[in-house]
Amino acid sequence: MNDVTITVIPGDGIGLEVTEQAMLTLDGLGAGLDFDVLDHVNADTFLETGVALSDEDFERAGRSEGILLGAVGDPRVRDPRYARDVLLRLRFELDLYVNYRPVKLLHDQLSPLRDPAKRAIDCVIVRENTEGLYVDIGGALRRGSVHETAIDTEVSTYLGVSRVVEFALSSARREVCMVDKSNAVRHGGGLWQKCWHQAASRYPDVRRKHLYVDVAAMRLVADPTQFDVIVTNNSYGDILSDLAAQLAGGLGAAASANINPDTGFGLYEPVHGSAPDIAGTGRANPLGAILSGALLLDRIGRTAEADAIRKAADDVVARGRCTPDMGGELMTAQAGAALRAAL
Ligand code: NAI
Ligand code: MG
Repeated sequence: MNDVTITVIPGDGIGLEVTEQAMLTLDGLGAGLDFDVLDHVNADTFLETGVALSDEDFERAGRSEGILLGAVGDPRVRDPRYARDVLLRLRFELDLYVNYRPVKLLHDQLSPLRDPAKRAIDCVIVRENTEGLYVDIGGALRRGSVHETAIDTEVSTYLGVSRVVEFALSSARREVCMVDKSNAVRHGGGLWQKCWHQAASRYPDVRRKHLYVDVAAMRLVADPTQFDVIVTNNSYGDILSDLAAQLAGGLGAAASANINPDTGFGLYEPVHGSAPDIAGTGRANPLGAILSGALLLDRIGRTAEADAIRKAADDVVARGRCTPDMGGELMTAQAGAALRAAL
């Protein structure tokens, strides 16, 4: 079997610590992956050279069969162009229009919910990943005066919305819930409604519902078991997926895939950031990165290995063989090793 080349961008802070565990885990499975590690793509390089991700590295990553990313962000870098030039560039320019964030309760004791019957969250958030509020169109004027004005434009396109709702409908297990704020955000909301109804008519067998984002947040907390697939725009998806991650046991174990379903190319990354508050302490939970590696395996057809990782993750958490954020006492490397031992 030929090796599949995966570009690895560990990034900053705990990104380095957790991607190391993800690579060790994937390597140990003998899944035929070859890693091309771009360890110079980080805040140090940006501070030194002003370049976040060179064109050469961008092309190198694009030529590989997928990207595994840790996290980018460093307290020394105030310039928002840094994260934008790495992560948003990869998402936007590789047209990775689906941000796929599965959320499944790892263990009952990790749920913050009081009612045991409402704890078993098992859903997927499909977040539009290439437009919305994060396109960086806008500006500011009269800076420094009381008339200072800041404008960020939210962009929704017919093609962009249609393809992401289509993906959500095609990946539904029970039901798809479309989330917007069309009662207040009239133009973009109207476009989401139109694309949703048009796409839904092609999936007569899929149960569907619609919620405004404020109600969706409330219902997610009241009874997350009501949800199967949620499709929403870039910013609502960003927020709802952190909320859902916490309901499932915490940000440290939340995984995501940024994918282009048409080309099959994907960038896999834990939902969390570089966590400078715990970087270097060995307390970073490697599960989010390792489970993102499982999503990569799913995409390249190694579903048995991916399922084995997910099962091992449930197993280590149930036995408390995990990091402090999940109630364990293990360090990052020990938690990774415990998961590999459970495989
Ligand atoms: P964060 O996700 O890095 O941390 C939030 C909180 O969760 C912190 O208290 C942290 O210690 C904890 N946490 C996060 N991941 C954890 C893990 N694996 N194990 C245990 N605890 C964990 O978000 P924050 O603090 O807002 O951002 C820190 C930096 O990361 C910033 O520079 C931000 O821009 C960047 N960031 C990067 C992302 C990416 O590369 N995809 C995503 C989110 C933030
Ligand atoms: Mg986020």
